[in-house]
Amino acid sequence: MSQAAAIQPKSVPVLDGPWPLGSATYFAKGPLTFLDTYVPQYDGVFEVTSLFFKMTTDFKKMMFVTNPDYVKHIMQDNNRNYRKSFGYEVLKLLLGKGLVTSEGDFWRKQRRLMQPAFHRDRLAAFSKIMTDACTVMLDKWKALPDKSVINLSHDLMEMTLAIICKAMFSTGVNDVVEVVNREFNVANEKLIARAINPFRIPLWIPTPGNNRENQAYSALHQIVSEVITKRRKSTERYDDLMAMLMEMKDEDTGEMMSDLQIRDEVVTIFLAGHETTSVALAWLFHCLDENPEVEQKLLAEATTALNGRTPALDDLRQLEYTRMVIEETMRLYPPVWGVGRHALEDDMFGEYFIPKDTNCLISIYSIHRDPKYWPEPLKFVPERFSKENSKDRHRFVYFPFGGGPRLCIGNNFALMEMQLAVPMIVQYFKMHKPAGFKFELDPLVTMRPKPEMQMEISRR
Ligand code: HEM
Repeated sequence: MSQAAAIQPKSVPVLDGPWPLGSATYFAKGPLTFLDTYVPQYDGVFEVTSLFFKMTTDFKKMMFVTNPDYVKHIMQDNNRNYRKSFGYEVLKLLLGKGLVTSEGDFWRKQRRLMQPAFHRDRLAAFSKIMTDACTVMLDKWKALPDKSVINLSHDLMEMTLAIICKAMFSTGVNDVVEVVNREFNVANEKLIARAINPFRIPLWIPTPGNNRENQAYSALHQIVSEVITKRRKSTERYDDLMAMLMEMKDEDTGEMMSDLQIRDEVVTIFLAGHETTSVALAWLFHCLDENPEVEQKLLAEATTALNGRTPALDDLRQLEYTRMVIEETMRLYPPVWGVGRHALEDDMFGEYFIPKDTNCLISIYSIHRDPKYWPEPLKFVPERFSKENSKDRHRFVYFPFGGGPRLCIGNNFALMEMQLAVPMIVQYFKMHKPAGFKFELDPLVTMRPKPEMQMEISRR
């Protein structure tokens, strides 16, 4: 008898809710409270219901997946049976057919083309851009009186955006950063609103809101297209991401990317590459504020390794505790808190039957806080990420950058950026949340603090 025949498929357990909106409304009301409440009641997968799925979406069932083996099955072992879920469709308005939103053979070709640009050796050239941008932020803070309250989220976002702009376009980006910052904020907000509300007014109807939304997408597209056009006419040589994208050739066919495709990839890298990193950093300083003993250890490491110097790439090896603090921050506060996949054909998770057209929501947030894998999960303990403690960990118990073939292409870029910025900041400044400052976790596309993280800063 074949193994498949020996397994008696079981149906996935269903969380019922009131007709017609079903249990999906519990999730919509408060995604994280929902996950904290229901995930522990099930065995790694459960279904939520709503009469509206079939009417307003392209999937028939929606399931939450929190068993690392099932996640590995979806993202790695059987990844060809899954495409990204319908939420990503909305992103196409801005990102077109960039890496985050494309699928199948087209995505595979693009990924192969772009992978070398993100190779560790190529990234080395960006370390100076990263420390320069951090210096600009620190200089701004140094000009403030002691105990000033800053909007840390905003300042970090400005820094990470300046870094990605400079890494992409190298020169003359100051004016671009300002417009990109403003238009990205609008685009981000509008995309989220569209993704969570399937009944939103179609974009072609010229309401004031839609006009502003269209304006943001076109402004961003136009900025990038203009740079491409200028570059095509220029004889100057550049050593930045944009130059790499423009020069890339498919090894087999010799084909290069069209200008439109370059535009989509650039906008994608802008969006994927700055907010995620700035959100991770904002959480990191919150964690340090809550855990002064960790902050002291981090400062001691920075002082020993750098003694007030600006770090360079070679210093990263000495900043091992810093790396562990970054990893632990992204465990408790994964900037991308979940990813969605749509089953193209029937499948099995262990003995559970997963029908075709199921939308699987993989909760990175829940797995990262599951006491089965993390003793005292809500405690901030960077030592969990020592080499020794990490070596036998299941690949999908900790996966802030996703996994399988669609692993984040910018993971090394982001880690390097954070590992350079954190010791620079802690060497100069102490930060505490202002008295009475309260925030909650806001799970949008990224999981941010709401309101934005405020900090009272003083010089060391
Ligand atoms: C802390 C920072 C970051 C986090 C937590 C993060 C997280 C992720 C995750 C979870 C995915 C997979 C999404 C999925 O499977 O549906 C992803 C994909 C991606 N990320 Fe990141 N990311 C970060 C920084 C960056 C940076 C700095 C860049 C670019 C410079 C970048 C570019 C991308 C791209 C292009 C993809 C799509 C890859 C593909 O599908 O081939 N990310 N990221």
